[in-house]
Amino acid sequence: MWDQLKALHAKSQDRKITDLFADEARSEAFSVETDGLYLDYSKTNIDAQAYAALIELAQSTGVEKRREAMFAGEKINETEDRAVLHTALRNLDGGPVLVDGEDVMPGVLDTLEKMADFANAVRDGSFAGAGGKITDVVNIGIGGSDLGPAMAVPALAPFADGPRAHFISNVDGADLADKLAVLDPKTTLVLVASKTFTTMETMMNAKSAFDWMAKEVSEPATQFAAISTAMEETAAFGIPAERVFGFQDWVGGRYSMWGPIGLSLMIAVGPDDFKDFLRGGQAMDRHFVEAPLADNMAVALALVGIWHHQISGYGTRAVLPYEQRLLRLPAYLQQLEMESNGKSVSLEGKELSQTVGPIVWGEPGTNGQHAFYQLIHQGKQVVPCEFLVGAQGHEPELDHHHKALLSNCLAQSEALLLGRDYETAKSMMAAKGFEGDALEANAMQRVFSGNRPSTTLMYKTLTPFVLGQIISLYEHRVFVEGAILGINSYDQWGVELGKELAVKLAPAVEDDGSTEGLHVATAALVKKAKALKG
Ligand code: F6P
Repeated sequence: MWDQLKALHAKSQDRKITDLFADEARSEAFSVETDGLYLDYSKTNIDAQAYAALIELAQSTGVEKRREAMFAGEKINETEDRAVLHTALRNLDGGPVLVDGEDVMPGVLDTLEKMADFANAVRDGSFAGAGGKITDVVNIGIGGSDLGPAMAVPALAPFADGPRAHFISNVDGADLADKLAVLDPKTTLVLVASKTFTTMETMMNAKSAFDWMAKEVSEPATQFAAISTAMEETAAFGIPAERVFGFQDWVGGRYSMWGPIGLSLMIAVGPDDFKDFLRGGQAMDRHFVEAPLADNMAVALALVGIWHHQISGYGTRAVLPYEQRLLRLPAYLQQLEMESNGKSVSLEGKELSQTVGPIVWGEPGTNGQHAFYQLIHQGKQVVPCEFLVGAQGHEPELDHHHKALLSNCLAQSEALLLGRDYETAKSMMAAKGFEGDALEANAMQRVFSGNRPSTTLMYKTLTPFVLGQIISLYEHRVFVEGAILGINSYDQWGVELGKELAVKLAPAVEDDGSTEGLHVATAALVKKAKALKG
């Protein structure tokens, strides 16, 4: 299958993406819509034959079987011997979900209600701090215990009518100091979010936040809650069980924002909007499970990804939300996609013959246009772009801004598609009075090769439901790509070595620490840091 796809790719080099639009039905044929979310992938150099081959690839690599296994609670995270059931967290009315023969849904729904009760109490003031009603909630966590709510809180700002949410993740004291500096400890609630409750950054930040609160609050633990699977550790920290929100090991860190890790979001927007977010995620799950592969949005996104990375060899993908409130989406997707699929070995532990995931990066438009789009349009390397845009903003009085945003988004994908040829550039410059060598040089600077692929994800307005659809869609894209490539998307052994070495290095960076036994390159840098410190 891979060879056939490579051959089809070689054939595609003789045509331009624009040629494919000779087929007037292309926009319709190369798009999918579900519950108001629309994906257009017509601006890629994939024709009907290549798409059929990609679908065959998905079928022959067992995507459907693995999808069934995931939803059936089978332990598809083989290296950790765990089921992968974050979808159960949003299975609001979907019936039982079995893990080891036991229905996990009653527990999921109980936890959701416990979260809602707590969120309501914080929001209406019946849970208060030493100084009265809680005004600010600080989520302390990192990676999957931070990025989901840190992305979603600004995304849903128009729905936020509760206490303000803040996120501290980095072990750099600057993160903690700057965020706490503007808060009143007497009206602040701290959520310590850590699946394991052992993550070094989170535990150090939690301890420092506790000390900060202890200066003004006689019983700081009363203004702390925990989100974790590790009940013994949360108890040891001094947080009573009624304020510990647990989840199970079948929810991976980067897939966890649908449950208690989303508590800061729930407090900010309220339980009803949080449930709408879950409903959006669940609607996408249904589409993913029920739609045939050829009309399946997550499958389409994954196959376009395979075509661009494995088949065409493009190394990166830019995520470009024309939605300022999705400013943290690229960072969120970096963890979701690169921690999931940044692997070199197969499920069987065999070295893979090709790279798995592209590097994901991005920034909201229109800001990116005035920064790195130069390279996207005229750089030698091709960067497939993923645009996201709503048809309408949340500010009716600023509708003219939204129209400008939308037209910019559409203009960018059109510019990438069409480019500008030398003849057009030349007549432009000739009209400005350039002649001879100067005309040629100036025309060449203004040539855009075009033929650069992009996809566009469009929706009416960014609501909790739509955000749920989008995040669930991206999760399933990761799943499909991982299944096709035969890897485990749900472990992350690659983050361990650095953690181990940091522990080993900790004594050396102490002021009186010795560099003995360190690698010579590291020892040199430790000595330099000490010399600079003076
Ligand atoms: O560093 C990787 C990681 O294990 C992520 O997978 C996880 O989301 C993050 O650390 C935080 O882990 P925890 O929730 O256990 O603190």
